[in-house]
Amino acid sequence: LPVTVYPNQDIASVTVARRIADLIKSKQQKGEKTVLGLATGATPVRVYNELVRLHREEGLSFKEVITFNLDEYYPMLPTANQSYVTFMNENLFDHIDIERQNINIPDGTLPLEEIPAFCLEYERKIEALGGLDLQILGIGRTGHIGFNEPGSAPNSGTRLVTLDDLTRRDASRDFGGKENVPTKAITMGIGTIFKAREIVLMAWNGKKASIIKKAVEGEISSDVPATYLQLSDNVEFVLDQDAASELT
Ligand code: F6R
Repeated sequence: LPVTVYPNQDIASVTVARRIADLIKSKQQKGEKTVLGLATGATPVRVYNELVRLHREEGLSFKEVITFNLDEYYPMLPTANQSYVTFMNENLFDHIDIERQNINIPDGTLPLEEIPAFCLEYERKIEALGGLDLQILGIGRTGHIGFNEPGSAPNSGTRLVTLDDLTRRDASRDFGGKENVPTKAITMGIGTIFKAREIVLMAWNGKKASIIKKAVEGEISSDVPATYLQLSDNVEFVLDQDAASELT
């Protein structure tokens, strides 16, 4: 499993941002659009900062970029402070030249009975565009990727899931208490993520060290969904020294 360890989160993030920018530019030269799978949370923030800088200072354009976010809480209004729509707007989309109609984020406002059709359409839309060129991932302390919590099947698609208690605890600060964290989310599946042509999983900080050890060196099991990535030929783990500190 390719693992690259950087001295710190900033150097690693700049490297990932440059990889994304190079992909966008090379596809642009061929007259092709770039289809990116994006994540929220603390992990990718500095990657997005650097992409904004590349846009402002080096003319990187997102006009030919289409994005699909991994997940959204359910239920969740897009205008809420904690929504992943708000997160993406504040950290990336409001600061670049992406076309609004090219942004896709699971809809946290749907009535329950409309979710299955929405999820199928999310998959269909990705496929119709030729698939995800690059998927960015963080990792939760449960071993989740997207919100594919322990128990998720390797061939799972986009669907409504129940969040793990630890995941809700980790989100409690954003919501002012665990009791305010939604119990559910809509997430791309493991199968959806696997179809991406390139996958980059990032992790920073000693708090992620033990789950990174399990993800990279542990037995492949639905108990730690990120272990499925060991089966992919297209994945790279990008770590800082602290997140890599338990690897042998
Ligand atoms: C977010 C997502 C999650 C996070 C993970 C790590 O869209 O899909 O899997 O990547 O929970 O979160 P942070 O980066 O906040 O540690």
